[in-house]
Amino acid sequence: MTPPSNLAYVPFISVENMMRLVHSIGVETVLKELTDAIEHDFTRWPLFDKTPRVGSHSDVGVIELMPTSDGELYGFKYVNGHPTNTKQGLQTVTAFGLLAQVSSGYPVLLSEMTVLTALRTAATSAMATRHLAPKGSKVMAIIGNGAQSEFQALALKAVVGIEEVRLYDIDPSATAKCARNLAKTGLKVVSCRSSQEAMEGAQVVTTCTADKQYATILTDNMIGEGVHINAIGGDCPGKTELHKDILLRSEIFVEYPPQTRIEGEIQQMAKDHPVTELWQVINGEKPGRRSAKQITLFDGVGFAIEDFSALKYVYDRALKTGHFQQLDMIADPDDPRDLFGMLQRAAEPA
Ligand SMILES: NC(=O)c1ccc[n+]([C@@H]2O[C@H](COP(=O)([O-])OP(=O)(O)OC[C@H]3O[C@@H](n4cnc5c(N)ncnc54)[C@H](O)[C@@H]3O)[C@@H](O)[C@H]2O)c1
Repeated sequence: MTPPSNLAYVPFISVENMMRLVHSIGVETVLKELTDAIEHDFTRWPLFDKTPRVGSHSDVGVIELMPTSDGELYGFKYVNGHPTNTKQGLQTVTAFGLLAQVSSGYPVLLSEMTVLTALRTAATSAMATRHLAPKGSKVMAIIGNGAQSEFQALALKAVVGIEEVRLYDIDPSATAKCARNLAKTGLKVVSCRSSQEAMEGAQVVTTCTADKQYATILTDNMIGEGVHINAIGGDCPGKTELHKDILLRSEIFVEYPPQTRIEGEIQQMAKDHPVTELWQVINGEKPGRRSAKQITLFDGVGFAIEDFSALKYVYDRALKTGHFQQLDMIADPDDPRDLFGMLQRAAEPA
């Protein structure tokens, strides 16, 4: 059989190579650079193709496709969300994604995105926090101490200078795991016995719990003046984390309203409840935080442009560091119209 041509090969970043790549740069540096990469693409927001992600829902979870394009590159992510998976030793969220050339439609990168999703979700929270939290915020609470939690803590440390993290999870073993993983990061880590206790003295809170229902992770009395909230766990129809009264007191910032109105905390509000698109704050078109007392809420559901930015970032870094392998992925016959001939010849003895 003749060997595949160069065009057949697509760079592939495996989980092993993703972990090598991250360590070769440093986790916190990656989080900072990813925050900047996502922010850069938010400044180019109008030129991207945008659509709410396409979800396939079942009683136990959701499988979603998230496509976008900036006119030069096209990208998509496959991602699932299955809140009961951890009870069977499986992760709640797994993902992979692809970049392709718009000019030819040929893929240029296939990548694992389970680790990359955690990094990009944390970087997106950090970007929102940088623009919306009170200046000089040092203490954050994290409610839900599962797979996303350490990434959220480290991104806010690296990007906005958080020094203390206060943890709460209904499962104390998740909090113990998170505290253990953050022990040598330079953060002061405080394990708490309730959300209320975790919120004591926190200027920023990230909620990243997994449940397939309308849950009330934070109630109105827990949120004092001036707090910034990153609510990232409510990201599906019928799945929210905050009591409605908090939303009524907050200035709400979102990624892409047509998706957030279906999936975000604002499912609980009227269809025309006022929200601000985060890209407009980043571009200076709309104000972010307007007073020290204001409560700001980033109702983050995860949008395709963030994954596109993350894929572009790791594509560049993988090519520079060599942390990828070539995958024989695109059938490439010598005569582009003789695909069958290529298959036929493969049966012939060499
Ligand atoms: N917005 C985004 O871009 C984005 C990206 C990735 C994941 N997510 C979502 O974030 C959530 C967390 O993801 P994960 O991968 O960390 O999941 P995970 O299952 O690893 O962790 C979730 C944790 O939440 C805890 N929890 C559940 N109910 C709780 C409650 N009432 N109070 C306190 N803790 C509670 C669980 O015990 C668990 O430890 C999921 O809902 C996921 O879909 C959002």
